[in-house]
Amino acid sequence: MAGQYGLLLANAEQLVLVCGRGEKYLRQEGAARLPVLRHASVVVGRDGLIKAVGQANALRSQFSGASFDRIIDCSGKCVLPGLVDAHTHPVWAGDRVHEFAMKLAGASYMEIHEAGGGIHFTVEHTRNAPEEELFSTLKHRLERMRLAGSTLVECKSGYGLNLETELKMLRVIERAKRSMDIGISSTYCGAHSVPKGKTATEATDDIINNHLPKLKELKLSGEIDVDNIDVFCEKGVFDLDSTRRILQAGKDVGLQINFHGDELHPMKSAELGAELGAQAISHLEEVSDEGIAAMARAKCAAVLLPTTAYMLRLKQPQARKMLKEGVIVALGSDFNPNAYCLSMPMVMHLACVNMKMSMNEALAAATINAAYALGKSDTHGSIEPGKQGDVIVINSTRWEHLIYQFGGHQALIDYVIVKGKTVYENEKCGIMSSY
Ligand code: NIG
Ligand code: FE
Repeated sequence: MAGQYGLLLANAEQLVLVCGRGEKYLRQEGAARLPVLRHASVVVGRDGLIKAVGQANALRSQFSGASFDRIIDCSGKCVLPGLVDAHTHPVWAGDRVHEFAMKLAGASYMEIHEAGGGIHFTVEHTRNAPEEELFSTLKHRLERMRLAGSTLVECKSGYGLNLETELKMLRVIERAKRSMDIGISSTYCGAHSVPKGKTATEATDDIINNHLPKLKELKLSGEIDVDNIDVFCEKGVFDLDSTRRILQAGKDVGLQINFHGDELHPMKSAELGAELGAQAISHLEEVSDEGIAAMARAKCAAVLLPTTAYMLRLKQPQARKMLKEGVIVALGSDFNPNAYCLSMPMVMHLACVNMKMSMNEALAAATINAAYALGKSDTHGSIEPGKQGDVIVINSTRWEHLIYQFGGHQALIDYVIVKGKTVYENEKCGIMSSY
C-alpha cells in the first residue's frame, strides 16, 4: 500500500545539511560552518521533495501515525546531500589510453592536440559513432557517477564541432535527462576546439550563424532543451574575441554562460566572464589577480577541476586565494577521455590535498556551490525543506570519511537517493519495516 510520504531517513548519526537558511552559495566564511545535525531524520514526500528535516525525536512525534513507502534506518550512518558534478564531458567514443601513455612519457596536452590527437581524435570517433552507442555509453558512465554519489551532473557536447554531431550529442544528453533518475544540466560546447579545415573565425561564424539558431529552434519546439553555453578559451583554440562573440550570442538565445578559461595560458577569461555575466568559469589555473577580483564581484562561480591539474601536472588553481577574496568555489570531475575520473569523492580529496581546501570547503564546493554554478541551487545542493530529495547515506559515523577514504567511496556509500527514490543500494544494507 502506498504511504502518505515517500521516504523516511531515520536517526542519522550526522545529517549534513550544508545550508540551513536557504543560502544559494557558500563563500569561505559560510563553508567554514556547515550545519550538521546529530541523531536527525529527513522526510521526503511522494513528489520527491524534502518535507521535513530535524532531530529524530521531534520528527518522530511530528510524524507519529504517518505512513511511509520506505523507511531507512540511518543509525550509525551519515546523510549528506547528493553530490553535484559541475563539469563533465561524458558523451564520446574512442578512449585515449594511448595518449595517457604519451603524456606519462613527457608529451604535453597541447603537443598532442597540435599533432592532431586529443580532442581531434575523440571528434573523429564520436562523429562516426551511432547515436545508440553514444547513449548506452553515456548511460553507463552516469550510472557509475551515481554509484560514487553524484545526483546532479553537468554534461557537455563538444566532440562533434559540426552541427550534425553536436546535435547528435545533445539528443543523447536530452534522452538521458528524460529517462534516467539523475539530474542533468546540459551544455552546448560546439566551440570546444577549432574543427580541422576551418579557421577559428570561420568556426565562430558557423556557430553563431548556424548552430545557435538551430538550438533556439529546438528549444522552442521542446525537442532539445540546452541549459548552458561553453567555449574553450585558450591560446591556439578560441581567443578572447571569438569567445566573447560566441558567449554573447549564446546568452542572446537564452543560454547560461559557463565556459573553460585561463587553463593553460592567462587569457583574461575570468575578466571576460565577469563582464558578460557568466554563471561559472572552469579551470582557472592561470587566472589573473584582477580576474579573481572580478569573479568575486560578479558572483561568477569558479569551477575547479583537480583531476585535470593532477593528470596534466599543471600548476594548481589558487583555490585559497579565490576563497579568501570571496569567490564562490565549486568542483567538477571534468570526466573526459583525457581525465577519466567519475568520482566526486576523489575529486574532493584531491581538492583538499593539492589545492589546500578544507573538507568543509570541498563538500560545499561539490554540493551547493556546484549547484549554483549550474543555476540550480534553488532546488539542489543542500538538505532543506522544499528542495529535491537527493541524498546519499554513508556507512560511517563521521561524514568526513567520504573525503578521507581516497577511493573508498564504493564500500562507504550505502544508498544513493534521487527525488526520494533509491537508485543504488549497497546489498549489505538492512531495511527497517516499521518506525
Ligand atoms: O576540460 N580543456 C578542454 N576540455 C577538456 C579536455 C577535453 C579533452 O581533452 O578531450 C578539459 O580538460
Ligand atoms: Fe572540460
